[in-house]
Amino acid sequence: MQKQELTFQYEVFESSKDLSPGDKALLDRAKEATGLAYAPYSKFHVGAAARLVTGELVVGSNQENASFPVGICAERVLLSALSSLYPETAIETMAITYKSKTHPGGHPVAPCGICRQSLSEFENRMQKSFRIILGGENGKIFIIPEAGMLLPLAFTSDDLK
Ligand code: THU
Repeated sequence: MQKQELTFQYEVFESSKDLSPGDKALLDRAKEATGLAYAPYSKFHVGAAARLVTGELVVGSNQENASFPVGICAERVLLSALSSLYPETAIETMAITYKSKTHPGGHPVAPCGICRQSLSEFENRMQKSFRIILGGENGKIFIIPEAGMLLPLAFTSDDLK
């Protein structure tokens, strides 16, 4: 028997003021996108913004439904929009944040498990990893160097060969 260890490193910034101008601008676009969320049930408004390798920006926000499982997270709304607007274009960086009157907080938002699977598939499909900037309403910012790092030992298309 062997023991394996999986670790990854990410950057922690004390505030969005410490980000590079480009990363700060992308996080600001994600903050703006929270205003497009339809989240009457959770009242947790998530916004995501991606800078593509071409420099284009695409945003997404969570879209809920009275039938709760029908709701879609901001990250997957963004990926769907991207596939329609700019097919086969890779992402360079994605920023994700939220606003919530009922759950205010300074902790960075973490993508849910389904979104991690979708983000990881997108990287594999484009054969290009992308950075993820995670922010809260204020406070610390995390930068994850590659989306797939959030889903170690992922199930991928290789498993279906
Ligand atoms: N949500 C997202 O859109 N992205 C995340 O990364 C975490 C959760 C949404 C799903 C639901 O509409 C609301 O936040 C509360 O879970």
